[in-house]
Amino acid sequence: MTASERETIYREAVATLDGEGSAGVRLHRLCDYLRQCIPAYDWVGFYLVVPGERLLVLGPFAGEPTEHLRIEFGRGICGQAAERRETFVVDDVRNQSNYLSCSVKVRAEIVVPVYHGGEVVGEIDIDSHSVAPFTEHDRMLLEGLALIVAPLVAQVAPASSAG
Ligand code: SME
Repeated sequence: MTASERETIYREAVATLDGEGSAGVRLHRLCDYLRQCIPAYDWVGFYLVVPGERLLVLGPFAGEPTEHLRIEFGRGICGQAAERRETFVVDDVRNQSNYLSCSVKVRAEIVVPVYHGGEVVGEIDIDSHSVAPFTEHDRMLLEGLALIVAPLVAQVAPASSAG
């Protein structure tokens, strides 16, 4: 991805969030767009933080279904990114001990936290079947989108199981 391609994708991605539908529908549209537009993005989804809990639950996504519907903070790449409040880029998941496999085809993953009101409210998670496909452009694109989607992700946040 070049800087100019990144800018175009960013603009089109933001446009998918406009228009009809609930926050969940709009986030799903963004997942579909990114997956279709960027060949290396084989699975694109959101994990949502359960408010007040150290737990992520699967949100809108595009790609094959995953068995990882709930992930505790600290577990896997997603749980580590939520705990450390930082973007994780993994070039080859075969070298990771703390990794939760969704598919044997996955080689690389990038996870970008989404912040709202100073808290991590969710994450953008991308899996790729290629080794080391993610560059600084992917990080910049996704960190930019994380800022834009923050209010929508906060809206679809699951209810606390504590009631
Ligand atoms: N691989 C992730 C689990 C979620 S799936 O990629 C959809 C992880 O290690 O946290």
